Amino acid sequence: MLLHDESPAAVEAREKNFILGTYNRAQFHPRSGKGAQLFDAEGKAYWDLLGGIAVNVLGHKHPRLVKTLKQESDSLLHVSNLFYHPAQGILGERLVRESGLRRAFFCNSGTEANEAALKFARLVNPGRAGIVALEESFHGRTLGSLSMTGHEAYRAPFAPLVPSVTFVPPNDVASLENAVTEETCAIFLESVMGEGGIIPLSDEFLIAARKLADKTGAVLVFDEIQCGLGRTGKLFAFQHTSVVPDIVTLAKPLGGGLPLGAVLTGDVVEGVVKPGHHGTTFGGNPVACRLGIAVLDELKASTLIQRVKTYGDWFGRQLDALKAKVPAIVEIRGKGMMWGIELDRPAGPVVKELLAKGFIVGSARDRVLRLLPPYIVPKKALTEFMDALCRTAALGCPTTQTGEGACPTPNKEKAA
Ligand SMILES: Cc1ncc(COP(=O)(O)O)c(C=O)c1O
Repeated sequence: MLLHDESPAAVEAREKNFILGTYNRAQFHPRSGKGAQLFDAEGKAYWDLLGGIAVNVLGHKHPRLVKTLKQESDSLLHVSNLFYHPAQGILGERLVRESGLRRAFFCNSGTEANEAALKFARLVNPGRAGIVALEESFHGRTLGSLSMTGHEAYRAPFAPLVPSVTFVPPNDVASLENAVTEETCAIFLESVMGEGGIIPLSDEFLIAARKLADKTGAVLVFDEIQCGLGRTGKLFAFQHTSVVPDIVTLAKPLGGGLPLGAVLTGDVVEGVVKPGHHGTTFGGNPVACRLGIAVLDELKASTLIQRVKTYGDWFGRQLDALKAKVPAIVEIRGKGMMWGIELDRPAGPVVKELLAKGFIVGSARDRVLRLLPPYIVPKKALTEFMDALCRTAALGCPTTQTGEGACPTPNKEKAA
């Protein structure tokens, strides 16, 4: 029997009995996809404006990824890290050259990348325990990454966690200056905070973090798991500023949909990580690395990152225009293909209503709609989304009127 033939009811019933209840899944059963669209079990089409939470940057079923996967599946699927295979080195070299850092370590997920970064920082600064992270940050669910995650509700059930983590408010330079001392082992920042509700960190804040790290010897780690690899209109989000971190962590889009994370390390880590200090059975798997190379090839060969910037600027202006007309929208924040729409009410019902209308969006914190569309998303999907958003009953908008003028349709300005 083809798994795709299972009815949604049968899928849900089996999960209810056998899958641990860590997720509140939406009642949505995507079965296939193409480009920026997903199709459910009944064949209904949805614009995917969440991209598997920032993973599917090339959309679904991208020909380059499909071709690579087919070729690689005929080769070795796994060799372990006891032996060599060419793909890790090739992908590592590409990431190092693009970032200006020195070396790469591969793992399987974002949280693992941050765990590794934390361990590497401890090796750079032996005996120093302090970590400075941000309120509302998100670095992952394993114990080290969770300890640096600035959501009390996520951390509380698992206390005691890794000690000596100080949280400071995003973009508050004075608090950062107070928190970073000679005892600080590492500073962990997301250049654009994702789960925290899409909060771009200011250049001033990032520059202050670099200066404090230089002054105290703390290792400056940028978690670019959500905002990296083209999402903000540059390959690395830190490249919007003059700041170069000591370590960058990556995951989400890196493996083209397969699990792959990476830690890129700079000069301060040179020579401190020795065989036996860290490792993973699957990390840097040949197939995932080949897909990683294909993702970078596609980003390079196409003008996608430039498109992210141009369309992102246009979309930001359109969202601002929408905010001026929809009272329930409190603030628009973001960059490139990473946008948060802060509401004056819970985002959950809006997300649900949009899904029923054929738009997949996420939420962050309680009141933020989160958009992380694939970089290939057509302009049509974004304009249709804005039309749908301002006809959403959960936002108190009129839903019965249709056509021009019924809804505060954004400007007719064209994306360049
Ligand atoms: C900024 C950031 N760091 C770390 C993680 C954890 O990544 P993963 O879920 O792959 O462990 C996430 C996931 O959403 C993230 O957005």
